[in-house]
Amino acid sequence: MAQEDVFKKLVSHCKEYGFVFPSSEIYDGLGAVYDYGQMGVELKNNIKKYWWDSMVLLHDNVVGIDSAIFMHPTIWKASGHVDAFSDPLIDNKDSKKRYRADVLIEDHLAKIDDKINKEVDKAAKRFGESFDEAQFRATNARVLEQAAKRTAIHERFAKDLNDANFEDLRELILECEIVCPVSGTRNWTDVRQFNLMFATEMGAAADASSKVYLRPETAQGIFVNFLNVQKSGRMKIPFGIAQIGKAFRNEIVARQFIFRMREFEQMEMQFFVRPGEELEWFAKWKDLRLKWHKALGLGDAKYRYHDHEKLAHYANAATDIEFEMPFGFKEVEGIHSRTDFDLSSHEKHSGKKLQYFDPELNKSYTPYVIETSIGVDRMFLSIMAGCYKEEKLENGESRIVLMFPPALAPIKLAIMPLTKKDGLPEKAHAIMDSLKFDFKCQYDEKDSIGKRYRRQDAIGTPFCITVDHQTAEDNCVTIRFRDTMLQERIAIDSLHSFIAEKVSFKSLFKTICE
Ligand code: GAP
Repeated sequence: MAQEDVFKKLVSHCKEYGFVFPSSEIYDGLGAVYDYGQMGVELKNNIKKYWWDSMVLLHDNVVGIDSAIFMHPTIWKASGHVDAFSDPLIDNKDSKKRYRADVLIEDHLAKIDDKINKEVDKAAKRFGESFDEAQFRATNARVLEQAAKRTAIHERFAKDLNDANFEDLRELILECEIVCPVSGTRNWTDVRQFNLMFATEMGAAADASSKVYLRPETAQGIFVNFLNVQKSGRMKIPFGIAQIGKAFRNEIVARQFIFRMREFEQMEMQFFVRPGEELEWFAKWKDLRLKWHKALGLGDAKYRYHDHEKLAHYANAATDIEFEMPFGFKEVEGIHSRTDFDLSSHEKHSGKKLQYFDPELNKSYTPYVIETSIGVDRMFLSIMAGCYKEEKLENGESRIVLMFPPALAPIKLAIMPLTKKDGLPEKAHAIMDSLKFDFKCQYDEKDSIGKRYRRQDAIGTPFCITVDHQTAEDNCVTIRFRDTMLQERIAIDSLHSFIAEKVSFKSLFKTICE
């Protein structure tokens, strides 16, 4: 199945089974804003728990905070967001539609890639097994011509963005003959910078001084609390501060479902270190964060690093962890060595010292910072995409199953009486009452057992427990495993410990610590 179709199916599965709904749907929705349903919120909470505990339980020098969304507006001046957190926009004068200039060019580059890939596919078919793709790419005249064109556009594009040369960016759009997808014309305005922060007013007076922003990242709440936490927690460098919270960005091109949203959630950790030791810590966190992802068992080949060649002015190392989404490898997490940029800048703008006295070195300094920053929603999407499977069964039927790692599954077990009579529902309820304090359970007595299994597969429940007529005699139930569909008898008395072991985060954490 084409990856595009897989993605469409995934999006509709999310809606049908209560994972993600378009926001304000009865009013035709609100662009790039989504609501999490009854299953989605459980999965999301489990993802957050996995991240939070891996930070604050596994590291005794990492603590958490929960800072406010509204912050003093000067914070966003100091962080650089007021002046530089923007996208280059361009309007088509005929359709009156607005586009991100960089996305227009990226889409154009993707079309050139498609052309090249089509040439390769055609040749592969023509030559069959003897086809040498690498050689073909290196020698075919049409491929080379397209590749050279691509490189030239890409280099100029990167330079324009780097130099903020928006006049040339417009010129490039014209030269590439990019048309508006709506009007089909090349009647473009100039390119302008558009700040991505949402602004609002605080209090009754609507003057300039009351302007506040919805935070575009949670990180600044950590920086401005650096000394509060260090002093009140008697933290010694190196130490980290973790935070999970909402962030807001007025994304212009918001697409690919929950991949790029206007309201989203971040899990960020700033790790404060001695100047000069930051690259060592950067390497450690880079390694650790990839282990955290891989421990989920979705397949190591689905992850890769994307090391930044071109660094932001405040960073001296940066990498992304990318996951293979149905629309290609995409950034899920960023790891940055941010030097002392943020703390120094806040020191300058606030006039307050944000330094640490290091008793071992007997001197004060501004710590350097390693940041790990991951989007909850992107992580959610990667889990959904990695766990969604359509399987053909031996009996000719098919099933959709979400093979979630049990620790993340929204529902840990379903409890089902084989029939609605003979005291089986009562027994099933009694089992559920004994387990519900520790595990999210679902009781289901409607339809055939086969249909009930399919419903649980579709929401990713790892275990189904069936109470049958034999249960009253042997005090055992049938446990059915989601991934293999195998069934076993198990004593009711051992259910709790069996499930507890399987759904615990412990084995994931142990894998990370290995
Ligand atoms: N403090 C650093 C920072 O915010 P970022 O690369 O802009 O860095 C970090 O964002 C992570 O937040 C990204 O890797 C992504 O997972 C998530 N993220 C960023 N913008 C997002 C959006 N519009 N929708 C969903 N997630 C987003």
